[in-house]
Amino acid sequence: MEATTVKSGSKVLRHKHLLGLSTYSVEEISLILETAKEFRQILERPIKRVPTLRGFTIVNLFFEPSTRTRISFELAEKRLSADLINFGGTGSSLSKGETLRDTAQNIEAMKVDMAVIRHQSPGAAHFLTRCIKGSVINAGDGSHEHPTQALIDLLTISEHYQSFSGLNVSIIGDIAHSRVARSNIFALNKLGAHVTVCGPKTLMPAQIEKLGVNVTHRLEDALDVCDVAITLRIQRERFGASLVPSLREYHAMYGLTSDHLERNQNLIVLHPGPVNRGVELDDDVVEHERAVILDQVTNGVAIRMAVIYLLAS
Ligand code: CP
Repeated sequence: MEATTVKSGSKVLRHKHLLGLSTYSVEEISLILETAKEFRQILERPIKRVPTLRGFTIVNLFFEPSTRTRISFELAEKRLSADLINFGGTGSSLSKGETLRDTAQNIEAMKVDMAVIRHQSPGAAHFLTRCIKGSVINAGDGSHEHPTQALIDLLTISEHYQSFSGLNVSIIGDIAHSRVARSNIFALNKLGAHVTVCGPKTLMPAQIEKLGVNVTHRLEDALDVCDVAITLRIQRERFGASLVPSLREYHAMYGLTSDHLERNQNLIVLHPGPVNRGVELDDDVVEHERAVILDQVTNGVAIRMAVIYLLAS
């Protein structure tokens, strides 16, 4: 790593892959955040590209729709001067019956060094590590983990609060189907934050408290004492309509309004996107100065640069 890029170049991750944050240590999470802060500064320069990964090739395997994650991985790879290949399920030989293993091994045979995968099945990223020799980054696997999104959330929170220790973070919404919630719970707990999860009983996993979180079904209890609200998208594609009576009723019970921000003047609001406006958040909450949703998107590129750089090292 050149001196013009990042200072944390002598430190390395213990892991070869980033499949989830449940196995990452506080030191590894902190290293990624510190490295991302340096890349964040580089992204403010007129020339945002560094030559670090020239000659390194990454394949982006996206089998599920994505806007933010796919674009920010692509942008991160370009900013690091890596070569990249984008691959999706449709229009490929997967539709002719080729397996994920064969697809991955054929792509690797073309001398690819790293794979980023988003897939609807929990464990898909882990499975890929058994198919190819290069590093694998999980860009979201079903309702299992979305580690880079949680790292983005941590970086965004760290721009508003000096320490995670003792910080009160409430995660609100569809906890049962949320890979973002799981990755955030693992990371925030390790960093010493107090995590509360809030949502309807039908969207709360059984025995979630065993992950070391408080549980409430009342939004006011979750919001009144917290410093950070991580709101989650209602994932209509992952469950039948029967789990919530209607989106209007969901909004009435769990949707954030400007009144909530008035009641707690310290609160910052995060959302991984895409936002269902008028369901998880009112329009005026999305536009509020204490909603940091677009900062999360900006931080996405820096986090993904940091993860790719550290795993490539
Ligand atoms: N946060 C997130 O994963 O968004 P996308 O589904 O658009 O990638």
